Amino acid sequence: MRLYRILVEVLFLGVFALACGGSEEKPANSEKASQPSVAQSEAVPTVAGVAPQTMQRGKQIYDSYCKTCHQANGQGIPGVYPPLAKSDYLQDKRKVIHALVFGLSGPITVNGKKFNGVMPPAPYNDQDLAAVLTYVYNSFGNPGGIVTPEEVAAVRKAGK
Ligand code: HEC
Repeated sequence: MRLYRILVEVLFLGVFALACGGSEEKPANSEKASQPSVAQSEAVPTVAGVAPQTMQRGKQIYDSYCKTCHQANGQGIPGVYPPLAKSDYLQDKRKVIHALVFGLSGPITVNGKKFNGVMPPAPYNDQDLAAVLTYVYNSFGNPGGIVTPEEVAAVRKAGK
């Protein structure tokens, strides 16, 4: 009687283990795991001369703050939030820093499309703004570039 029970248990465990192992090997599952989720932002870029922690911080600020409006891959929302991805507005660094430090409103044109919204001043210090802007300049297909805390401080000091 006891031997019979042990036999049944061993058999049950064996079947269970097989079922688990089998499902792990299903190609459908491994495919899913290797595909990045659509909602995810880009990876942290590596920028020569910028500490990896600074880029991490930049991405963290982007994901927790800027992403709400400018979206996960900086594509924005047509007619509402302008894109940061390949934005020609980024060419003028001082103007960009000014927009973040003091906010931006009124009509602007980005990549030939008109926007007329309101961006509030970003509630971050010079170091954090430099980090998030350097992250933006090196993400979303943008051409690169570095924004330093000193540059942000200078724009802040010059005033509106
Ligand atoms: C509450 C929504 C909101 C948030 C949050 C926000 N923005 Fe904006 N941003 C806007 C709007 C709206 C405009 C356009 C303002 C206008 O039409 O004058 C804009 C414009 C810009 C521009 C200039 C135009 C362009 O697309 O190149 C840049 C650069 C920018 N934002 C970067 C950022 C960064 C970086 C952050 C995070 C630190 C951020 N924004 C957070 C709404 C937002």
